[in-house]
Amino acid sequence: MAFESKIRPIEWIDGYSRMVDQTVIPYEYKFINITKGDDMFHAIRDMIVRGAPAIGIAGAHGIVLYAQEGMGKYNDINAFKSWLLEKCDYMATSRPTAVNLMWACSEQKKVIENSKSDINGLIKELTAKAIEIEKDDIERCKKIGDYGAEVVPKGATILTHCNAGALATGGYGTALGVVRSAYAKDNTIKVFADETRPRQQGARLTTFELVMDNIPVTLITDGMCSYFMNKGMIDMVVVGADRIAANGDAANKIGTYTVAIAAKYHNIPFYVAAPLSTIDTSISSGKEIPIEERSHEEVTHINGKRICAEGVNIINPGFDVTPHELIAGIITEKGILRPDYNKSIAEVFLK
Ligand code: MRU
Repeated sequence: MAFESKIRPIEWIDGYSRMVDQTVIPYEYKFINITKGDDMFHAIRDMIVRGAPAIGIAGAHGIVLYAQEGMGKYNDINAFKSWLLEKCDYMATSRPTAVNLMWACSEQKKVIENSKSDINGLIKELTAKAIEIEKDDIERCKKIGDYGAEVVPKGATILTHCNAGALATGGYGTALGVVRSAYAKDNTIKVFADETRPRQQGARLTTFELVMDNIPVTLITDGMCSYFMNKGMIDMVVVGADRIAANGDAANKIGTYTVAIAAKYHNIPFYVAAPLSTIDTSISSGKEIPIEERSHEEVTHINGKRICAEGVNIINPGFDVTPHELIAGIITEKGILRPDYNKSIAEVFLK
């Protein structure tokens, strides 16, 4: 059952991409129009749009923007195609961890390689694919939400980390999609949102969208989760993912692994909610997932203000990998995958 979100983080409008600027929430809720491929690259890299499925959609939009720009530069379709294929590879490097971005760029590459049309026709085909990826994501998230809602106990308190919500997807959410679908069935469920240092996606984005949708949410800082688990105040954990390996190891925002360990210790089920486009069957384990290193300033500063001594050493990995042993189930648009993940993941791609 769907509980619609009011948020559409990214949308193809006639000839350009319109996105919510996620760097200024909760102070402002404003839209930015992206009209050039390079601007889309920077919007992804600088996290104006963020969240694995949303940056996949953004990448697909970005290829259309490049194609529109190339129209004036090329007359020969083959030269146009090889230039655009290079742009697809380039767009896929705008962030390294979320595989949805690479997946969406490779979907656009297939359109280019298989097209029999002229330049104008190819741009139409790429636009149609970008819109399909965008709309399809919302449908996938609703299915993820409905499957996930089946394992949410009545009146449960669900802990989530980072933002795997409407803002991170086409507009419904993966982990928060489960929350939305569960809430539609049982309005006594509640959410605990981890702050999610260093960029505070939990505090800034998850609380923002749940408050907007009137779903009860309590903000806690990252170190508090075991305390509340120990008090019996958390019934389950649901998080999103940026890349899941063939054995079920799942990369998500830094700090997720800590939550999973705490959940295991307290015997609380820890679920990952993600579309199949987040699963990278080309890698056998999480050790092969590239982890983004982000700017030191994200750690040394909050809201532009230094919070530590000058000269301190900083390391800032953006993601960590939760080993599959800690994951009770991976909630996808085709149902909930259970261990043995090597088997259940291989099988779901045959369905
Ligand atoms: O660095 P971000 O904000 O893009 O990281 C986002 C996350 O880690 C999300 O949990 C993940 O992408 C899943 S979004 C449905």
